[in-house]
Amino acid sequence: MTDVTQLAVENGIGLIGLNNPPVNALGAALRQGLVDAIAALNADPAVKVIAIYGEGRAFSAGADIREFGKPLVPPRLPDVLDAMEASAKPVVAVVHGTALGGGLELALACHARVGLPGARLGLPEVTLGILPGAGGTQRLPRLIALDKAIDIITTGRFVAADEAVELGLLDRMGEGSPREAALIAGAQVLDGSLPTRRTGDIVITPDAAVIAAADARLRAKRPALAAPIKAVEAIGHAGAPLAEGLKAERALFLELMDGPDRQGLIHAFDAERVAKTFPEAKETPRPVNKTGVIGGGTMGVGIATAMLQAGLPVTLVEMAPERAEAAKAAVAKNFDGAVKRGKMTAEARDEMLGRLTATVGLESLADVDVVVEAVFEDMAVKTDIFGKLDQICKPGAVLGSNTSYLDVNAIAAATSRPQDVIGLHFFSPAHLMRLLEVVVAEKTAPDVVATALALAAKMKKVAVRSGVCDGFIGNRILAHYRKVADYMVLDGAAFEQVDRALEEFGFAMGPFAVGDLAGQDIGWATRKRKAPTRPAEERYSPISDRICEQGWFGRKTGRGYYLYDDPKHRKVNPEAVAIVEAERKAEGITPRTFTDEEIVARYMTAMISEAARVVEEKIALRPLDVDAVFLFGYGFPRHLGGPLNYADRIGAKVLVARIESYAKEDPHYWQVPALLREMAATGRSFADMNKE
Ligand code: 3HC
Repeated sequence: MTDVTQLAVENGIGLIGLNNPPVNALGAALRQGLVDAIAALNADPAVKVIAIYGEGRAFSAGADIREFGKPLVPPRLPDVLDAMEASAKPVVAVVHGTALGGGLELALACHARVGLPGARLGLPEVTLGILPGAGGTQRLPRLIALDKAIDIITTGRFVAADEAVELGLLDRMGEGSPREAALIAGAQVLDGSLPTRRTGDIVITPDAAVIAAADARLRAKRPALAAPIKAVEAIGHAGAPLAEGLKAERALFLELMDGPDRQGLIHAFDAERVAKTFPEAKETPRPVNKTGVIGGGTMGVGIATAMLQAGLPVTLVEMAPERAEAAKAAVAKNFDGAVKRGKMTAEARDEMLGRLTATVGLESLADVDVVVEAVFEDMAVKTDIFGKLDQICKPGAVLGSNTSYLDVNAIAAATSRPQDVIGLHFFSPAHLMRLLEVVVAEKTAPDVVATALALAAKMKKVAVRSGVCDGFIGNRILAHYRKVADYMVLDGAAFEQVDRALEEFGFAMGPFAVGDLAGQDIGWATRKRKAPTRPAEERYSPISDRICEQGWFGRKTGRGYYLYDDPKHRKVNPEAVAIVEAERKAEGITPRTFTDEEIVARYMTAMISEAARVVEEKIALRPLDVDAVFLFGYGFPRHLGGPLNYADRIGAKVLVARIESYAKEDPHYWQVPALLREMAATGRSFADMNKE
């Protein structure tokens, strides 16, 4: 017997405590432990009923994701759960914390289920590109209504304990610690007040029309994602005898396990967690009890909202009283939206707003522990503010800048305490977007970095460490690959074809639609700023400038590349098409056609090239940090796992060959990064670098 299960027998109740920290993942040792425990307790005449509970913070987070893609070590989870269901003595599960994936499937294979307050249950397998492969698609529809089972399995959403009781997924709520609740549940089974039955014995006839409708809906909505569609197919077998249904489920599960989505989605899951392992993570963070935000624009308001949501008091500083009031109203509006959507109570909103002070004058930041400057993107303005903060803020205060491009070393140099200065680059809307680029300047102290990490964790952000360069990880790479979309349009591709090809590839929106949404004037201002330093040999597409010159900035002006008479459906702006044609003519370009594949290949190759340089120059710690930036800040298709995870699928040799062929047209833009060339020669992959 291994110590991953804690066994005890009390008053005829055989207890199995799952004990595999931190989240009782069902790895090989725990699976074997469970089989042994069930056998031992069935053989023990003193035991009349078996109760399973979780030690630590969760019942179980499911199969051990780290075992995926490796040779399977027996016993297989479905066999463990079959043994559990077949147990001659009744087995009751007590669920606390989270019961997810295989963890919930374990509870489904028990003969009764009790939940503790705060428990969350779910089958999130589809979010990892697979389907519940240990009976979830067969047992859940036997216990709850078919449409609810389809919803839970195809969305992967977490169900709160009270809803689970309503649905019939849990038999009742319990109380006390998980172990105490297990003893109570066991006693209730013994005295007959908690009925038990084998889920597999329940006979259902899934309504074929409901299955067909779910299938049609998923194919229409996300045709590229195989997992939810196959999960519905598996649920369709739930009318067969359990053993038969389990066989069908297993076959579909294995198909998905070998598919590409699983690899990409699990890489995304890992990238989110590994990104926060900064070298400075072991340092003790400075205490953060009070925070300040400078600037009440979109970014400042979003950052203040995020900090309030994290439970921190915020002093927001603006230039004039009416602007401070407007900023406060904008924060309140963010919360009102959440209250309206039922995501927040009115009391919680009032409590959060009670922690916000919107005022004028940097002096009010004298006693904050962390300040985030979020003013206009101008070095002179920023250095002026940091010089003043240096005079005003207490010693040890962390001085953060939300700059998205500018040199954090230069900002730090405006103070006498550069060790306290750090870049904290949020993404808009800052209270919703998960990414936070933590920009570590030359002199930033390690405990300041650790403070930023702790703050990110409090705000539930994905923190990624970036070195200093123009645009840091994300915007630097964006500035590069965005140009190739313009070049393709200049050379003959229709902008709506570029958008559509990239949307079919998996981006939520193509680059021209994104520009219209964000406001074309932002990019225009940046291009004007950079014009004096643009290398003479760089190709330049003036199309977006011409469109902006008309005052067409996108959605906010009703037109840009597209027309927005009907806000739901963009329509090509014929006058934008005329501008494109006129510019091609002016440059003497004979337009050529592009296939969708070529559009995606050029766009992705450009993105990967600059990403490789960012890794090569050690701006990013590892390739997976670049992946995390694009997954959590730029809407990169999650099932592809990020640009550098996707790059490994293409292979460095193919990428180098592509760049060399494109370079024949434009040798300045298309240059092979040294790292990619080395990878093509040695066979090293980005995945290998993630492990180094
Ligand atoms: N397998 C292996 N490790 C896991 C794991 C799992 N299923 N779930 C979580 N972990 C690890 C995390 O990687 C992390 O490791 P680290 O400390 O080394 O970074 C640690 O446990 C703690 O996790 P979090 O940092 O995510 O902690 P949170 O408290 O924020 O979240 C959670 C806990 C809600 C359980 C979250 O980790 C989660 O969603 N886990 C994945 C759950 C899941 O998808 N389960 C389905 C697995 S597939 C399956 O069961 C197949 C079956 O049908 C056959």
